Amino acid sequence: MIKSKSRIAILISGNGSNLQAIIDAVNQGQIHAEIVLVLSNKATAYGLERAQRANIATEILLNAEYTSQNEYDAALKQILDHYQPDLIVLAGFMRILSPSFVNAFKGKIINIHPSLLPKYRGLNTHQRVLDAGDKIHGVTVHYVTDDLDSGPIIEQVSLEILANDTAESLEERIHKIEHKLYPKVIANLVN
Ligand code: GRF
Repeated sequence: MIKSKSRIAILISGNGSNLQAIIDAVNQGQIHAEIVLVLSNKATAYGLERAQRANIATEILLNAEYTSQNEYDAALKQILDHYQPDLIVLAGFMRILSPSFVNAFKGKIINIHPSLLPKYRGLNTHQRVLDAGDKIHGVTVHYVTDDLDSGPIIEQVSLEILANDTAESLEERIHKIEHKLYPKVIANLVN
């Protein structure tokens, strides 16, 4: 029997370099899935252009159009229900999702976070790692639960911090790791 392709929705807010890595992996046949939707909460997100170039449906759901998180998440759920994704991939989506949203898609939402969770949940991880004098930094892919950056870890990759590293150099090195790790994890989940 031929297994039908999984349907992936990707949520972004910005540049979308991870989105691009996933698009490339799908196009190269490394991920056996179809990206059915790229949704952004920012109209100017460059990732929207990447999606359009790859002929992927896009949606924009602006924060400012909703007065509460619950209203926003209800609208988000309605859009996702329309596209019927098997997997929802957060790739730099800068919003916290409400418990009711997360529960509606239980076990289907994953996120990539630029730290070795449970260390450094939240923002500015590279600078915080440097300020703490850590020797090791890294990337985590995890399931999303209703507790920020705290869901079950799927895979982590670590990196040694060099004496001359800055937040910018760490960001660049972390991105390179992310662009290999995220497609690999997604392939393992859907293939
Ligand atoms: C990545 O560093 C990811 O870990 C974090 O947001 C960033 C998104 O970058 N969650 P990009 O938009 O994929 O380039």
